[in-house]
Formats: sequence, C-alpha cells, structure tokens
Amino acid sequence: MNDIFPNEFLWGGALSACQAEGAYDKEEKTLTIPDVMRFNPTDNRKVTKQPNITWEVIKEAKGDKDTIMYPKRRGINFYETYKDDIALFAEIGFKVFRYSISWARVFPNGNDEKPNEKALEFYDNIIDECLKHQIEPLITISHFDMPIVLIEKYGGWYNRKLIELYKKYCEVLFERYKGKVRYWVTFNEINMSIKAGAKTLGIINEGQSNFEEMLFQGLHHQFVAASSVTEIAHRIDPKNKIGSMVAYFTTYPHTCKPEDTLKAQQDDQMKNDFYLHVMVKGNYPYYALTYFKDNNINLSMTDEDFKIIKSNNADFIGSSYYNSMISSADDVNIELTNGNVHSVYKNPHLPANDWGWQIDPVGLRVTLNHIYNKYEIPIFILENSSGFHDVLNSDGTVDDPYRIDFLKQHIQQMGLAIKDGVNILGYTMWGPIDIISSSKSEMSKRYGFIYVDQDDYGNGSKKRYKKNSFYWYKDIIKTNGRTVFD
Ligand code: BG6
Repeated sequence: MNDIFPNEFLWGGALSACQAEGAYDKEEKTLTIPDVMRFNPTDNRKVTKQPNITWEVIKEAKGDKDTIMYPKRRGINFYETYKDDIALFAEIGFKVFRYSISWARVFPNGNDEKPNEKALEFYDNIIDECLKHQIEPLITISHFDMPIVLIEKYGGWYNRKLIELYKKYCEVLFERYKGKVRYWVTFNEINMSIKAGAKTLGIINEGQSNFEEMLFQGLHHQFVAASSVTEIAHRIDPKNKIGSMVAYFTTYPHTCKPEDTLKAQQDDQMKNDFYLHVMVKGNYPYYALTYFKDNNINLSMTDEDFKIIKSNNADFIGSSYYNSMISSADDVNIELTNGNVHSVYKNPHLPANDWGWQIDPVGLRVTLNHIYNKYEIPIFILENSSGFHDVLNSDGTVDDPYRIDFLKQHIQQMGLAIKDGVNILGYTMWGPIDIISSSKSEMSKRYGFIYVDQDDYGNGSKKRYKKNSFYWYKDIIKTNGRTVFD
C-alpha cells in the first residue's frame, strides 16, 4: 500500500472563526448567532435537537456581556494566540489550514460602505502567518456565523438583498487575498441550512405556516450567491478554486427490503445530493422540484438566477464526514442516537463516541466513491474526526489512542478510495486544536492534537499541550500517509 497518496496531497486541519477566535466584540465586531448560543450543562440529550434561536434569545443575549455561559464569545482566544497555534500546526507539518473569516468582523453593520480595515488586518496576519510556514490557507467565507444585524435588518437569507451584501463581502476578500489564497469555500456544509435554519440562514422560526418554504427560499438565495461569487472569484484571479461544501451523510437501507432501499435513495437525494447537484451540475434536480410541488413550496426563482447557477459551477466538492445514517420505509421502532445536526437510527454494527455519534470509517470510502461517481470533480475532505473526553496528565501529556485509532481508520479508507480511483485533493481533519463545540457550546468535547487547558466555564490556564496524536499525525504527514497502513 505504498505511495497511495499523491505527492501534492494537502494534509492539514480545519477550524472556524466562531469556535476559536473569541474577541467577540473587539474592533467593532458585532454579534453573530454563535455568540448568542448559551452553554447548557444539564443538556444530556440523547437525540440531536437544534438550539431554539428566537427573538427573545437574541434580545436577552444582546443585553448580556457574559463570556462564561456564552462560550463561543471567548473561544480559545485564537484572536491573540494565532501565531503560536499556527506554529504548532507547522510543527505537525500541515500543508493546508482551513479557516473561516467572520462576516460580522469585516462588515460589522452588514451594509457598511467600506470594510473594517482592522478586521482585514487580522485576517491578513493569519494568512501571512500560514504562508510564512508554507501552509496553504483555505478560506471558508461563511462558517455557521450568521451576523445578527443581517437578521434584524433584512430577515436573513430569506431576503434577496443578502446576495448583494455577500457578493460585496466576497469581492473584498478575493481582491485582498489575490495571489495568497487559492482555495475558497462559499458556505460551510450548505446542506445543514434546512435543519439549522437560524444558525446558517438567519431565518427565525416564529411559527410561520410557510416556514419550510422560507428556508428553501433562503437556500435558493445562497445558491445564487455561491454561483455569483464563483464568477467574481474566477474573474479576479483565474487561479482561484471555489468549492461547494456539504456534510455528507451516507444513507444505508435498514434492511434489504426494496422499500427500504427506495427510502434510503430518497433521503440521500434530499439530504445530500440535491445541494451538490445544484452547485456542481448547475440546475435543480427533478426530485427536488417534485418535493417542492408535493409540499406546496413555491419559490421565487428568476430566469437570471438559473442563468447564474448554470454558468458558474463549483471547481471542487468539499465534504465533511462525521457519521452515516439508516433509512427505513416503515415507521418501525428503531432506537435513535445522536448524529451531527440530524439524529440517526442506531446501527448495531457501529460503535459510537460518548455523544452517541456513530463511527463508520468504511462509510467514508462509500461516500467518496458515491460523490466522485456522480460528479467527477475533485473532492476535498474538509472535516473529519470525532469528539472525545481527554485527560491532561500532571506531566503535561495527553494519551489519546482513541483519536489515533479513529483517524487512522478513516485515513486508511480515504487511501483505499484513492486506490479505487477517486480524485481527492486533500484532508483537513476537524479541530486540530481543541475549540468550543458547535452543537453544545462545550469545551469538554475535544477534537484536537493540541490540548487547550480550559474547561466548560472558561477556567484554566489556556496553555497548549501536545497530545500523543500530535506526534502520530506528524508522522502520517511526513510519510505522506504511508505509515497509516502499518
Ligand atoms: C461540523 C461543523 O458540522 O461539525 C463544525 O462544521 C463542528 O463547525 C463540527 O464543530 C463538529 O460538531 P460539534 O458539535 O461536535 O462541534
């Protein structure tokens, strides 16, 4: 199994601004949805639920400066520690670092005439720091951090106006980072939009009778925005590569009954493929149009929208991979377990982490083959890993064989997919340094190779410690993945 990974394979890690940066109100930055998501220590849910972001929640958070119960406001203070943290990524040998830019930092009032220079200087520093270490910066333009001002002023992505504002924001970034950033992702996991409406689309559920229609309308505006900025990016620098991104949930039929396979196919279509189809093939697939008709969803979509979507397809597919799913045609009593954003049926063949997210390395190979077979453009694995509880020993070490085991199995399956013939550009595992978890705003759910001494309430020295997996991943990169099969 030698030399499976191409020489130019991009190994690295990925973070988001809203889970790492902190400094939530520095240099004029305004609040975003993650800044209003409270940590709830009694939340031991067995079934994934989306946080209920209401106007009351937003109002209460706006009047409160607290950073203990609103953990994403403090993050891991990456705003100040980025230099040292990036140096640690360089020590591991990262060839790429995926990071997001905060829209609310760059345009604090949403419709400012000019961007906030101080915010851009901060991102200049991050990008330059990466380049200094020969790390390729890969930028996510919007990662689950909807600015509150855009919800208050316009009603979020339901309003077509957001397309224009997003284009302006992107143009600033493309001009500024021309020649420095090659890889861009328009929206993190765009297929989460329908499940996580407020978090990603900024559409607040107030019991509207057409709420689902509003979500799909917001999503349509995001599709038009993504295609529009793909055109702008290519115009500004033809070397730019723009990725669409989904969190792919490969879906198995519960049994070999044909009805279960049909249900799995339908779920796969509306939960995964629909998004890639629009952004890669440039049109709405027949099954989505049927779904809209059957569910009385009437969207406002113009000929110009379709022209834009048709002529500006994504250059690569970005995908995160956390867990697979099961579909069943019957309303049978299958136990549920947590999964990323969706709850999923429990698969008796799979182990799970402490949060109930099931671990399915082979599913990654299935996913990669499925995507490549369908779209035949390069794939970038932009997130993959699992949350674990870690213990910091008194000598500053952290023994985390479970993390090594998880990543090893997934990287092996990625290697096998490459051997199958799938074109994979790179792999940015999720959370190379511990950050605040997206779903539950806790610190105890750790992903990193680097331990951050901070608990759920922000106590701790915030010092960084190298876990055993730090050295393991370093070796994987150094040998270009060869040792993963040892
Ligand atoms: C992904 C998100 O869907 O899941 C990340 O893009 C998130 O932002 C990751 O952190 C893991 O989820 P969680 O809730 O464990 O942090």
